[in-house]
Amino acid sequence: MVDESYTAPQPPAVVIAVHNHKGGAGKTTTVSSLAAALSRRGHEVLVIDMDPQGNLSQQIGPENIGAIDTTIREVLLDPNQALPAVLKSTVKGVDIIISRLKLEAVLDKLRQSYTPAVILRPAIDILREGYDVILLDLPPALNLLSVNGIAAADYLIIPHQSGAQFSLDGMEDLLTFVGDIKRSVNPKISVLGHVLTKHDERENAKRAMAAALRARVGEEAVFKVTIPESTHILQSQMVRQDVISYKRKATVVEAYFELADLIAERAKLFASRKACNGEE
Ligand SMILES: Nc1ncnc2c1ncn2[C@@H]1O[C@H](COP(=O)(O)OP(=O)(O)O)[C@@H](O)[C@H]1O
Ligand SMILES: [Mg+2]
Repeated sequence: MVDESYTAPQPPAVVIAVHNHKGGAGKTTTVSSLAAALSRRGHEVLVIDMDPQGNLSQQIGPENIGAIDTTIREVLLDPNQALPAVLKSTVKGVDIIISRLKLEAVLDKLRQSYTPAVILRPAIDILREGYDVILLDLPPALNLLSVNGIAAADYLIIPHQSGAQFSLDGMEDLLTFVGDIKRSVNPKISVLGHVLTKHDERENAKRAMAAALRARVGEEAVFKVTIPESTHILQSQMVRQDVISYKRKATVVEAYFELADLIAERAKLFASRKACNGEE
């Protein structure tokens, strides 16, 4: 007899940190756009804002974020707060844990721990059970918050602002930082890929930087699709939407869908909970 109430156990979520210590690299935009694209492809998505600036929370968090007490700060202080901290974002099918400025103050607390690098990990392990993919939006810094994000993740995506030479100049520091975390606390972390944002092949400086990045990290390590510069990004953020909800038919949206598909393939996100449960 077939038990129709039975649903097969789901594999735990793949956790992807999006990091570059340079501000303006496109981290937050990449997280909100990928979350929207992956959700539309049928995946259950959670995004976690780990930047005290709270840009992601302001963009796609609920309206009343000022009144919310349970943020990533509380989760870092107590992993049992992980599930209570989950909120609905404004992106259909995407949940969010928000952040705000007082997160900065938690850094001192983290430093006092015996295991300061792996404070987030138990909370992430609790959250993995409910999603296909968890995206971490890290701060523009090489600090304990970014250490914790990378230490709890399976993969890292590194966005680079195209044409910004300083992004390449700082990359050695970033790769050394990731290498140290890999050696000390998270041997399984690997770079899923580098992605060029605000790219335009027609501009010499941007083409030159793309070539230099590919030469430095290898052709394979840079996603073939690049994210074009688009006014729709800023416009969507001004009305607190992800760009896909804002302008479904835009080149930048197609690029983010293509990136989401490449990521799903590389990170092996084939099975989706919604599809398994017949919700597609
Ligand atoms: N593809 C794009 N085209 C145009 N502007 C973009 C694009 N991606 C990001 N931006 C803008 O660049 C700024 C920095 O992007 P953001 O995603 O916040 O970077 P980070 O999180 O790395 O600091 C934001 O104002 C954002 O609106
Ligand atoms: Mg950001």
